[in-house]
Amino acid sequence: MRIDPSRFMTISLLATILVSSGAATGVALAQEQAVPERDPVPAITVIRAGTLLDVEGGRALRDQVLVIEGDRIIAVGPARSTRIPEGATEIDLSDATVLPGLMDGHVHLTSRHDQHGYRSLGVSIPRAALSGAANAVRTLRAGFTTVRNVGAGGYADVALRDAIDDGELIGPRMLVSGPSIGITGGHCDNNLLPAEFGVTAGGVADGPWAVRQKVRENAKYGANLIKFCGTGGVLSKGTQIGARQFTLEEMQAIVDEAHTLGMRVAVHAHGTDGIKTAIMAGADSIEHASLIDDEGIRLARERGTFLSMDIYVSDFILGSGEAMGILPESLEKERIVGTAQRENFRKALQAGVRMSFGSDAGVYPHGDNARQFARMVEWGMTPMQAIQSATVNTAELFGLREDLGSLTVGRVADIIAVSGDPLADITVLSEVGFVMKAGRMYRRDLLEPQRSAAVAR
Ligand code: ARG
Repeated sequence: MRIDPSRFMTISLLATILVSSGAATGVALAQEQAVPERDPVPAITVIRAGTLLDVEGGRALRDQVLVIEGDRIIAVGPARSTRIPEGATEIDLSDATVLPGLMDGHVHLTSRHDQHGYRSLGVSIPRAALSGAANAVRTLRAGFTTVRNVGAGGYADVALRDAIDDGELIGPRMLVSGPSIGITGGHCDNNLLPAEFGVTAGGVADGPWAVRQKVRENAKYGANLIKFCGTGGVLSKGTQIGARQFTLEEMQAIVDEAHTLGMRVAVHAHGTDGIKTAIMAGADSIEHASLIDDEGIRLARERGTFLSMDIYVSDFILGSGEAMGILPESLEKERIVGTAQRENFRKALQAGVRMSFGSDAGVYPHGDNARQFARMVEWGMTPMQAIQSATVNTAELFGLREDLGSLTVGRVADIIAVSGDPLADITVLSEVGFVMKAGRMYRRDLLEPQRSAAVAR
C-alpha cells in the first residue's frame, strides 16, 4: 500500500493537537477517534528504539528496531543487523525507552473517582457508559492498551468494549465481566438505601444453582470473564472486610460454570478466609488479597493463582476520599486494610506468588493507573518486576500471552514509549509519550514531526 506522506502527517498532527488540548473532555476526545480510524495505516512501520525492554528476558536492549506489518510485530532486533523493508514508515524513538503496552487487570471504566457513596445513586447506567467512553481515552493515552473491567451495571462494559472494537470510540482493548456476582447484602450488592426502595444489584444471587444461572446470564450478554465478591469490601456499606461471602460450594459452582463456559474468574477478597476459600474453589485471580496469610500464600503458589494487589489506591482513598463522597465507615476500613495489604504484597512477592497488575482505577482517576508502579517498587519489586507484572504476567492471567504482553515477533503491536529510563526511575511510566495499539498510533507527543515523516527507500 502506498501512503501519501503529507496526508499522513497532516491527519496525525491534527489528531495530536485535538487530543492534546487537555481541556477538552474525554468524550470530545473520543469522538475524534474517527480521525485515526480513517487514517490509512502504513503497510509497514519501523520503530527505532533507543532502548527496548525485553520483558520476557527481563533485559533492556540498546539500539533496536521493531518492524510492524498491519497490527502485528514481524521483526525485532539490533538496528545494525535488522533488515528494514522498502517503503516502510519510520518512527524515531531513538531517544526513548520502548516497551509493551501496559495491561491493567482491575479497572472500572464506567466509574468516576468523584462519585462515591450516596453520590453514585444519581448516576444512571447510560450516564455511566458515557463516562466510560471518556475514561477509556484517558486510560489508553496513559499507555494502558489492554484492561480488564471487573464489574459494571447493565452491561455498560460490554457496550463500551464493543464500541471500541468497532472503531466508534478510542480506548484500550477491554475484557469485561458484566455485573459482579455477590451475596445479598454483600460487597457486590448495593446496600445504600433502606428496604422500601427495593434496590438489589444486578449480580446478586444466593445458592449454587442461582449463582450458576448468573454466570450463564453474564455469558449470554457478552462477558469475557466472571467477577465475584468473596468477602466484604472497603467501599460498600455495612460489609466487613474480614467476612467471607459465599460458601465453598457456591464458589465452586461459580468457578465450575465459568470455566466450563470458557471464562476465567476474578475474585474480590480482602479477608483471609474468603481468599483461601476462593483459591481452593479454583479462582484464577484474587483481587486485593489484602489480609492474605502464610497458608493463603502457600495455596496461591501451589495453585498458580494470581494476586492482583491494588497497593496504590489507599493513598487516594485516605487522601481525597472524604471529599469524593466515600463513607466514614469506608475510610475506617481503609485505615485497617491499607498498610496490611502492602506488607502482605511484599510477603507474597518474596514467596514467589504470581503477581499481576490491578489498580482499581475508577476509585481513583482513570489515567493515573501507573502511579501504582512506584508503590510496587517501594514494597519490594524491582522496576523490571513491576513492569513484568503489568505486561507478561497480566497477559498470562488474561490467557493472551500468545498475542500480548511482550515485544516479540508475532505479537500484536501494542507499543508505548517514555523518555527516560523506567528501570532507574519507575515514575517515568506516568509520562507516556507514545502509544500504539494494534499498529495504530494514539499518542505521539514524543515524536518531533520532521522525524516521523514517511521515508521512501
Ligand atoms: N474496591 C475495593 C473495596 O471497596 C477498594 C479497596 C481499596 N483498598 C485497598 N487497600 N486496596 O474493597
